[in-house]
Amino acid sequence: MTKADGMPTHKQPVADPAADEQFIRSLRPKTLDECIGQARVVEGLRISIQAAKERGESLDHVLLHGPPGLGKTTLANVIAHEMGANIVTTSGPALERGGDLMGVLTNLQSGDVLFIDEIHRLSRAVEEFLYPAMEDFCVNFVIEKGAHARTLRYQLRPFTMVGATTRAGLLSSPLRERFGIFHHLDFFSVGDLVMVVRRSASILGISITEDGAATIARRSRGTPRIANRLLRRVRDYAQVRADGMIAEGVAAEALAFEGVDGHGLDALDRDLLRTIATVYGGGPVGIEALGATLNEEAQTLEEVVEPYLLKIGFLTRTPAGRRVTSAALDHLELAASEHHRAQNQGELFEERDGNAETGKRGNAMT
Ligand SMILES: Nc1ncnc2c1ncn2[C@@H]1O[C@H](COP(=O)(O)OP(=O)(O)OP(=O)(O)O)[C@@H](O)[C@H]1O
Ligand SMILES: [Mg+2]
Repeated sequence: MTKADGMPTHKQPVADPAADEQFIRSLRPKTLDECIGQARVVEGLRISIQAAKERGESLDHVLLHGPPGLGKTTLANVIAHEMGANIVTTSGPALERGGDLMGVLTNLQSGDVLFIDEIHRLSRAVEEFLYPAMEDFCVNFVIEKGAHARTLRYQLRPFTMVGATTRAGLLSSPLRERFGIFHHLDFFSVGDLVMVVRRSASILGISITEDGAATIARRSRGTPRIANRLLRRVRDYAQVRADGMIAEGVAAEALAFEGVDGHGLDALDRDLLRTIATVYGGGPVGIEALGATLNEEAQTLEEVVEPYLLKIGFLTRTPAGRRVTSAALDHLELAASEHHRAQNQGELFEERDGNAETGKRGNAMT
């Protein structure tokens, strides 16, 4: 299609979700052996899966949590593949009523994997349906009303539930306790991301040098999804501006062109840090106030933007709110004295570049 080839249209790269989804799927590892990084998670799953298979049982329910784009959906599919099972995929917000879940559960075959993405967004009513389903493989439903109400128990076939969430803390404890296996996904190391980039390049037939791959890996916020997305942007750039080969220089130029800086921060990351530094005097500031100033949902900031900034020590979270660190100020080339002056004389930060960018920022990709 036109955008993927990077040729005829010169519009801003508006992400085409369907094309992106297809692209992501094509790059997803299918087996545990194909998975890069996450060694503890992968080895833990390998043991659990082998043990369950040897006993001829279905695998215990698995809860995967961690920031977006680190491989939760990928692992759910890998688990099903390794168990030789079918996977049925749904998500918290898609299951509005108990009846929605009933339909899904009663259709599961023995050993199937039920993947519930964004499981922290399940409604209370649906969650209560899940408890006996997870624990005893049965569902109870009430027929008729009032004095004639009766509860029927319906036996389900044994299945494995895989839940994914970016916010394990939002899960109710009864739900959390019904999972037998927990894995937290952490950000990838640069070395692992280099392997992700090289693997994706080879699947997509892209020529890339080791340095080119390292340049992309270093700027991918520890996230394989971002690495794959940047690889695609850099490929377009290399095709049009260079001879198609992704070497270090081309990669760096292309990423700068995309607004991704040397630490992999994008415009929204920088806006957030700069806003805390200049508007809130370095912090502490509450997430709601920050969201209002940035015109972004607080939830997006918390789930998508902050985890990596916390990880690299650019941001700290205190009971009173968020603070920027001196490392972040250095990176943004905002001297501490400067941001204090900015705080005292409102006009200074109006002259600075930061605020102008806030309004101009395009679609922040998540
Ligand atoms: N272990 C891995 N090795 C190689 N590539 C991976 C690995 N894990 C994930 N990826 C790549 O990262 C991309 C994103 O992974 P995935 O969609 O599974 O993330 P996610 O955690 O489900 O994200 P979200 O929370 O946004 O749903 C995929 O395209 C996949 O190719
Ligand atoms: Mg996912």
